[in-house]
Amino acid sequence: MHQLKTVTEVDIKMQNILDKKLIFVTGKGGVGKTTVATGLAWLAQSLGKKTLICEVEPKGDVANSFECGSTPFSKREVTKQLEAMSMDTEASLREYLKLHLKLPVVGRIGPVAKAFEFVATAAPGVREILTVGKLCWEVKENHYDIVIVDASPTGHIVGQLAAPEAINELVKVGPIRSQTGWMLDILANPSKTGVVIVSTAEEMPVNETLDLSQRIYSETKVKLVGIVVNQVLPELFSHQEEELFEKLRIDPYFDKLKGVINGDPTPIFDAARLAVTLRRSRASHLERLRSEINKNVPLLYLPYRFNRSEGLKSVRTTATYLSDELGF
Ligand SMILES: Nc1ncnc2c1ncn2[C@@H]1O[C@H](COP(=O)(O)OP(=O)(O)O)[C@@H](O)[C@H]1O
Ligand SMILES: [Mg+2]
Repeated sequence: MHQLKTVTEVDIKMQNILDKKLIFVTGKGGVGKTTVATGLAWLAQSLGKKTLICEVEPKGDVANSFECGSTPFSKREVTKQLEAMSMDTEASLREYLKLHLKLPVVGRIGPVAKAFEFVATAAPGVREILTVGKLCWEVKENHYDIVIVDASPTGHIVGQLAAPEAINELVKVGPIRSQTGWMLDILANPSKTGVVIVSTAEEMPVNETLDLSQRIYSETKVKLVGIVVNQVLPELFSHQEEELFEKLRIDPYFDKLKGVINGDPTPIFDAARLAVTLRRSRASHLERLRSEINKNVPLLYLPYRFNRSEGLKSVRTTATYLSDELGF
């Protein structure tokens, strides 16, 4: 894992992930989006890149990962090179009004917020454009080398990524259109923007990953730049050792072992069988993912963490694995 790799073409493509300006990390709920987004952000900042991470669905998981206290819309400094924020569509609207329409907006926006709630509920795309617009704005302002988005899960990400285009379709002329054109320029530029899908080698996450990659391709202008296969199980023992475990289940070995440990060894054998079965079934899902996904999309592997560490310690571990996978 830690030895130097030959730099293949695939490695070069993978390296490009952190060379981009805007990376959306998405995937099925619970597969490890926050784990990957915080790991990538930590790696980026440790490589000297000025980094912003944004948690789109603010549950406080990014703050917990960095052990840094809450991450408001107005941002929090995590390290000298890393800032973290959470999305808030009302605050995004307020900032938009202030920046673009030069409206002095003090405190809560009151009636505007009410009108916004109404419009956002009635017109699909409004909430999405405020989310994606803020992220593109951070890229446009160029205060950061990279913006990493702990994005919405599979069900919502396509709507967000496609929002500027959808609004462009609706409004053919006028100021709103000019307000979405520059977002599209950022999102549709493959050297600036990319999506990373996180999956696990299980049936449902693989299905969702294949489905989502297809939708990203057909419904958005954003490029899929990588798939992280998370929670990869290690091969704990070889075939020979597996046979040995099976042999030990039967007499005379079983009886002898029982005497030696002064107890029933069956649970240990069951655990060994389970480890083999889980790894094998995952291997077949992984095989399907690899064979059905576009060959140009690199797959990155993150091992299952057996130690129950959370917070910064696990962020650092993830960043180290990602660094290896990306060939740094
Ligand atoms: N490689 C891993 N090994 C072990 N546990 C993991 C791994 N990746 C994520 N987890 C755990 O799985 C849970 C969900 O991960 P999280 O990154 O919060 O997913 P998401 O953001 O997609 O909901 C968390 O408790 C996290 O610590
Ligand atoms: Mg999360």
